[in-house]
Amino acid sequence: MTKKLYVVGVGPGSKKYLTDYSIDIIKKSHFIIGYKYTLNTIKHLINRSYNQIFEVTMKSQDDVYLNVYNNLMNENDICTVPFTGDVNFSESEVVDRLLNLFGDRNVEIVPGISSIQIASAKSRVPLDKASIITFHVTGDIEEKKIDLVKSIVDKKSVILVPRPWPSNKLKNFMPSEISSFIKEKGVDTSKIDVWVFENLTNNEKETVYKGKLDSLADKNFSDLSVMVIDQNKRQTYLEF
Ligand SMILES: C[S@@+](CC[C@H](N)C(=O)[O-])C[C@H]1O[C@@H](n2cnc3c(N)ncnc32)[C@H](O)[C@@H]1O
Repeated sequence: MTKKLYVVGVGPGSKKYLTDYSIDIIKKSHFIIGYKYTLNTIKHLINRSYNQIFEVTMKSQDDVYLNVYNNLMNENDICTVPFTGDVNFSESEVVDRLLNLFGDRNVEIVPGISSIQIASAKSRVPLDKASIITFHVTGDIEEKKIDLVKSIVDKKSVILVPRPWPSNKLKNFMPSEISSFIKEKGVDTSKIDVWVFENLTNNEKETVYKGKLDSLADKNFSDLSVMVIDQNKRQTYLEF
């Protein structure tokens, strides 16, 4: 007898990337708690006479998780918290909180398709040949910035999620700041290829920018963007 939680990756921007497994879980959940954007991706699955929906923000989420867990859920009830893309990428600040609240053995983590994977597919930069970095964290990013420069100097590709911080622009680490930062560290950014993908898998809104890294210095991109620093060298099995 437990209160069961599924944390499920959905999207990143389209219902077409949902797995049958996550669809079944969402449909059978008594409670669904999520951010507006993420709930929107699964809105076609929601049956309001069965699923109780709670839309949260960063600020309100903790109160809602506690209320649902302590006051609303009965034993054997199922709750789902959907996350954009893959729940195992750049979501741990929230997932760790939910693991603490529900207890590890009552939680199943269901992977989804990450915006990073879609960016990898579109740029033809394989995940296994790139450094994967998220700057979309609340904590300190100074070490990650050093890792970023090190990867570039080592001639690796980098697939990264930037950091939008609407309430404090000084904490932004978006493509323009990233480009300037790498240049300040002595890298010749005029020679390095870069991609920026916005609104991936959202047909009407998806955009692709390709250029040299230095060209990003004066460009603005939306919060929903993924950047690929492309130093990929294609290498087939014929070379080995
Ligand atoms: C907290 S991170 C979550 C990443 C997510 N778990 C994933 O696997 O894609 C949020 C950031 O992911 C990126 N992102 C999520 N969905 C996206 C999409 N459809 N297109 C472009 N970037 C996206 C954006 O940079 C966004 O600010």
